[in-house]
Amino acid sequence: MHPSEKEFADLLDYYQINYLYEPRSFPLRWDGSRVVEMFTPDFYLPEYDQYFELTTMKQNLVTQKNRKLRRVREMYPEVNVQLLYRKDLMRLMGKYGFGPLSGVSVEGTERVLFDEALVQRRVRELGAQITEDYAGEEPVLIGVLRGVVVFMADLMRAVDLPVQVEFMEITHYGEERQESLDVIRDVTTDLSGRHALVVEDIADTGLTLRYLREHLQAKGPASLRVCALLDKSVRRMTNVRLDYVGFEIPDEFVIGYGLDYGGRYRNLPYIGVLQPLEPKAVAQR
Ligand code: IMP
Repeated sequence: MHPSEKEFADLLDYYQINYLYEPRSFPLRWDGSRVVEMFTPDFYLPEYDQYFELTTMKQNLVTQKNRKLRRVREMYPEVNVQLLYRKDLMRLMGKYGFGPLSGVSVEGTERVLFDEALVQRRVRELGAQITEDYAGEEPVLIGVLRGVVVFMADLMRAVDLPVQVEFMEITHYGEERQESLDVIRDVTTDLSGRHALVVEDIADTGLTLRYLREHLQAKGPASLRVCALLDKSVRRMTNVRLDYVGFEIPDEFVIGYGLDYGGRYRNLPYIGVLQPLEPKAVAQR
């Protein structure tokens, strides 16, 4: 019924938490045998025996809701109901990486998966892990243009080691999933005996990474590892190994933080799910 309810439902869906929407009304007042006031909490989580009522309302309306809630608790003491204010919901969503757009709607983004603060924190963690694992070495970070530029810029500053940074560019030919790849810009550093770390924005089918691995392995590095910010593992078609992963993501098309759709959205500071085309727009195409 309400966008906040949709956000909360998405969060529960993502974490595979069962819920029922408005499954039960609690009568609060009667006029003879007729119920004149009742309370219908928005969500019920059967596994937790817990009801949730979301409220995004103004304070004076919340006061009335609170009064109703007190009555429910008096009349139905065995029932667990929790009121979630907008700020509670925002905190919850932020904590689980669904940070809402704090009321601002951005064209093209259906919802935020990982907000800016969360992305930055995760990239710092990856940088710290790489720093520890490569202590005493001078690794070569190899990024694949163009989606990786934002991630690479942040990651390399989060690595507290002398590093070298390289960029490659590849093209894709042919039909989707039958395509072949070709390197149009290769690394210029001699990789023989060096520790190479491929940095990717997203591992989807994994075909790009498998190709890159083979291509770079032929240059004789001392080691070759892969760091992918996002892992859409449900779509994987290869068994390419990811040594460092920022976030697992569901099978949805994501944009922002370097990732594009038709060349746009790379400059969004967060990672969001692309807004699907309106059914009308699809029909018109
Ligand atoms: P793969 O070869 O299928 O693993 O695809 C890797 C490349 O596809 C990535 O480097 C991205 O450029 C692109 N890609 C895959 N999924 C997405 C997405 O959800 N958003 C934006 N680009 C994507």
